[in-house]
Amino acid sequence: MRSHAKINLGLEVLGKRGDGYHDLATVMQAVSLHDVLTIAAAGRLEVESASLGVGPEGNLVWRAAEALRQSTGCKGHARISLSKSIPIRAGLGGGSSNAACTLLGLNRFWGTDLGLPDLKALAEGLGSDVPYFLKGGTALVQGRGERVEPIEEPPSQTVVLGMPPAGLGTADVYRELRLEEHSDGTAVRRLAAALGRGRLDYTAMRNTLAGPALRLCPEIQKALDILADRGAAASMVSGSGSACFGLFPESGAARNAMESLRAEGYWSETCQFVRAWDGPEPISTTLDGPLNHS
Ligand code: C5P
Repeated sequence: MRSHAKINLGLEVLGKRGDGYHDLATVMQAVSLHDVLTIAAAGRLEVESASLGVGPEGNLVWRAAEALRQSTGCKGHARISLSKSIPIRAGLGGGSSNAACTLLGLNRFWGTDLGLPDLKALAEGLGSDVPYFLKGGTALVQGRGERVEPIEEPPSQTVVLGMPPAGLGTADVYRELRLEEHSDGTAVRRLAAALGRGRLDYTAMRNTLAGPALRLCPEIQKALDILADRGAAASMVSGSGSACFGLFPESGAARNAMESLRAEGYWSETCQFVRAWDGPEPISTTLDGPLNHS
């Protein structure tokens, strides 16, 4: 299955909550950059990833599988392999996407047949961004991340992603956030309203977490400068960073920007917006055994 990355077209932190998390207003957009998650029959539950060992993304996949088993009582087995293309500690949602993809994939593979509300409850327990990734596409996301409302997809653009060699931990970026950097969500609501009318309002695109991310990782600024110099209509930090993105109406300029970023030692890829999905996104299915192992 494809497990897509996301970018945040806008993100405002509204305030800190009693449980240590923050209330957000953000517009998330899925992009074509993706990891590949493969589910195969096995004699036990295994998670393998050549690039990660049992790293944090692997753990989220494992926890997603365990959560589905526990909530349904299913004793299913599977070998889940993860081939990573989405960088970690990037603010591109890779780990959350992998967790949501695992829930969707195993729910089909094991025939547990949970509906979206039940999957959403499991997703919320796995991480703030996981509920969004059950459907992806373009969405206004509020609360801690659990209030997800689909909105109109922006007009198509080429997205250039850029990331310095150092990544950032989400919790560290939130810890670095200052009280005076909180805002009231007006810009994100304006962005969502304009998208509802089929327009991407560049003037409403801002990310509260850019300030703390840049203080912790000043190398992000050069990537933002390169994107702007090469003609991005908008360039900003994605989520808590350290990846940033530029939007290019013209694909030739996008390719130049990607090459300039790579020449400066930044990881860079180009990609496109992708629409919401309805269930797991199989690339191919090979049925060489019983599907239902429960
Ligand atoms: O939910 P998740 O485990 O992805 O969050 C990682 C960290 O990001 C949390 O431990 C918290 O520090 C921060 N966070 C937050 N408010 C949110 C989402 C995440 O403070 N709405």
